[in-house]
Amino acid sequence: MGRSRLERSCFHVTMPRTLVTYRPPGTALDRLAQVGEVDLWTGDETMPRAELYERVADVDGLYSMLTDRVDEELLSRAPRLVVVSNMAVGYDNIDVAACTARGIAVGHTPNVLTETVADTAFGLLIAAARRFGEGFDYVRAGRWGPWEPNLLWGSEIYGSTLGIVGFGRIGRAVARRAAGFGMPVVFTSRRGAAAGDDLGATAVGFEELLATADHIVVAVPLSGETHHMFDERAFAAMKPTATLVNISRGPTVDTAALVAALRSGEIRAAGLDVVDPEPLPGDHPLLTLPNAFVIPHLGSSTARTRGAMAVLAADNVAAAYAGRPLIASVNPDVVPRRPGPI
Ligand code: DGY
Repeated sequence: MGRSRLERSCFHVTMPRTLVTYRPPGTALDRLAQVGEVDLWTGDETMPRAELYERVADVDGLYSMLTDRVDEELLSRAPRLVVVSNMAVGYDNIDVAACTARGIAVGHTPNVLTETVADTAFGLLIAAARRFGEGFDYVRAGRWGPWEPNLLWGSEIYGSTLGIVGFGRIGRAVARRAAGFGMPVVFTSRRGAAAGDDLGATAVGFEELLATADHIVVAVPLSGETHHMFDERAFAAMKPTATLVNISRGPTVDTAALVAALRSGEIRAAGLDVVDPEPLPGDHPLLTLPNAFVIPHLGSSTARTRGAMAVLAADNVAAAYAGRPLIASVNPDVVPRRPGPI
């Protein structure tokens, strides 16, 4: 016998539904499928905006990539959303205040990528300061002749002073590596001087860091405050032998000012995992400079780390659907609402 209309509306509860904007690595999709239906965008490019707008309309969870902009416009089309789970530690692509105002929990993937990204920072530092890119180009061009005592001198790493801008998990992991290279570390941090106590690192102001560091690693999240913090003025204050390494987000550095500083010799080199814009067009002026060593946002790119990020992001969705605090929340004050009946 059929139920009355009222009974149907009370008892017809479907599984929560998650929109996944790019195929995640590893077992994350299986995890998501255990807790609900999965709507997966299978394209190779970032999910087109129009498609996102349409498909977000009837989902409870959004499993997003750092290339998806989650803003008021998107949220206004997603009345059922209880969780946005970003498969990244950075979440500058998400309007967190707008999510919070709507009671939407926001998750991210800290910790699992810390050491991998710190490795990338050190790799970039050595590659850029010691001119590995130029050396490889030289070999590839068939120019390798007899050993030359004056060939491609780089800047010293061992024993030089490392400046770390942003002393969170990743900045601190970079500092631990610096100890093995005999590098004194100076840093800036919102959390103050105590953040460096256990690592023997010294807190300084931004201006002092620019003037004293032989090499600088940028490890701050992108925000209104950190946007273009490396501008013309900052480059002028750095040592002419300095290397700038960016593993945070491209827009912390003013790209035009960086190109000018690298071209004029105001700074010696740059090692960049992130740039503005991303992707960087193949004919961008930065790529004409021998002293710019650029990789395509590979900071966390190992199979283990990307797999762990993907699973953590899926676990965040699962926690939200169970009405539990996320494993890693950006707005922990939002107590996840369980997906409602449809
Ligand atoms: C992140 O997780 O924010 C990184 O940029 C991805 O490698």
